[in-house]
Amino acid sequence: MASYIDDLRLAHMLADNADSITESRFKAQDLHVETKPDHTAVSDADRTTEQALRKLLATARPRDAVLGEEMADTGYGPRQWIIDPIDGTANYVRGVPVWATLIGLMVDGVVRVGVVSAPLLGRRWWAAEGDGAFTGKSLLKAQRMKVSAVRSVPDAFVSYSSLGGWIASGRGQGFVDLLRDAGRTRAFGDFWSYMLVAEGAVDAAAEPELSLWDKAALDIIVREAGGRFTDLDGNNGSYGPGAIASNGLLHDELVTRLQVAQDEYEETTGIIMPLPGQR
Ligand code: IPD
Ligand code: CA
Ligand code: CA
Ligand code: CA
Repeated sequence: MASYIDDLRLAHMLADNADSITESRFKAQDLHVETKPDHTAVSDADRTTEQALRKLLATARPRDAVLGEEMADTGYGPRQWIIDPIDGTANYVRGVPVWATLIGLMVDGVVRVGVVSAPLLGRRWWAAEGDGAFTGKSLLKAQRMKVSAVRSVPDAFVSYSSLGGWIASGRGQGFVDLLRDAGRTRAFGDFWSYMLVAEGAVDAAAEPELSLWDKAALDIIVREAGGRFTDLDGNNGSYGPGAIASNGLLHDELVTRLQVAQDEYEETTGIIMPLPGQR
């Protein structure tokens, strides 16, 4: 099996550089914030961070392709770096410290390396294929992560994102039923839900709509911690719709539950979603 340790080291170096930009700009809160055509926020710190990482990659790995959220594609290739300069921009621009830089490396269509760096939480999580998943302050001061052993939904701690997104996805009923039946639920959202699954602190996480840059780094970290990471239909990889991450034991049940469409819910309950006040 190929070793990705040099790529992992590079990804950590990229994360260090990202942290020095994102952390100081967050603390200064001197951001220039714009609204994108999809009505979501982006700040100049998102763009500056992605630009800096692209520049470092152009020197360190000139032959590799780079895909990022905020800048035009530089094409696809067999070795593809995937960058979300700030995951949790909505938090970032409001002064909420839950955000991270996500760096993934996909080789031949499979994510092999991932680093998630959340400097305001004082946390970093990472994995390289075949080497396990770790968290800590540096490569040398690291703790190996392992997913939980919870087997049933009534015992499970499930993290999620917006209810509105699930309703818009057409899978509202399965999601509402899951929240009702799960032992405990919290909306940690963004990268954090998935890193908590990798740590074994949370048993499962799911979101209805995510892009490749939202998922790539999380995918390999959850898998190397012993969990499963699939799209909403249960397919491995980061390309399909949404994401379900779990300790593996709960996965098939979650995929089945999240297939249940909300029109069935509307028919059986008479409650039409979205509810008033939700998007
Ligand atoms: C967002 C987060 C959020 C998800 C959104 C994403 P951003 O990423 O990942 O959890 O629900 O769909 O766009 O814009 O903060 O990088
Ligand atoms: Ca994101
Ligand atoms: Ca982002
Ligand atoms: Ca965004």
